[in-house]
Amino acid sequence: MVKLIGSKNVIAAVFISGTGSNLKSLIKFSLLKRSPIKINLVISNNTKAKGLNFAEKYKLKKKTYNFSNKKLSENLILRDLKKNKIKLICLAGFMKILSPLFIKKFKGIIVNIHPSLLPKYKGLNTHERVLKNKEKYSGCTVHFVNSELDSGKIILQKKIRVFKKDTVISLKKRILKEEHSLYPKAINKLFSNL
Ligand code: GRF
Repeated sequence: MVKLIGSKNVIAAVFISGTGSNLKSLIKFSLLKRSPIKINLVISNNTKAKGLNFAEKYKLKKKTYNFSNKKLSENLILRDLKKNKIKLICLAGFMKILSPLFIKKFKGIIVNIHPSLLPKYKGLNTHERVLKNKEKYSGCTVHFVNSELDSGKIILQKKIRVFKKDTVISLKKRILKEEHSLYPKAINKLFSNL
C-alpha cells in the first residue's frame, strides 16, 4: 500500500462509462493548487461515453477498451497504468466490475463513488430501491474498492433526506450534486494534511 496522508501530486486515472459529471468535478479539483492529485489518464469502456469530451476539453490522455475480452482489456489497462505512473484509480460511474486479479495486480489505491449510503443498496438501481422501501434518508459514499462489489472500507459519506415527493430523477439529481463535492473531499481526506 502506498503512503497516504501527506502525499502530494498523486498521479491518478479516472475510469468512466457515461456522462462523466464526477470526472468533471475531479478534473476541476485536480487543477486546484492545493489538490493532492494530478489526473494523467481517463479510461472508458465505452467509446460513446459523454465524459470523454471532458478529457478532450482538459487535454487529458484518454483510452477506451471495450471489455469484450475482459482479461485482455484489463491487462492492457494495467500496462497503461504502469506507463503513466498511476498510483490512484478513481472509479466514477464505471460500469464494469474489475476482476480480483486486476485489483491485486494494481499496486496502488482504487476508490469508487456509489449513490447510496453503503452498506445499504449495493449494486444497480439504488434510487428505485430506496424509494420503493420508503427510506427517509439516502446519499452517496466514497469507498475503497476490494474484490466484493461496493463493499470496501468507507472513506466518506454524505447523507440527504428523501422527500415524499421525490422521484428517481429528482433523487438522482440531488445525490449527484452531493457526489461532486464528496469525491474531492474524500480524496483530500486520504492524501492531505489539511
Ligand atoms: C454516479 O451516480 C455514481 O455514483 C455512479 O454512477 C453515476 C455516474 O455519474 N457510480 P457520472 O457519469 O459521474 O455523471
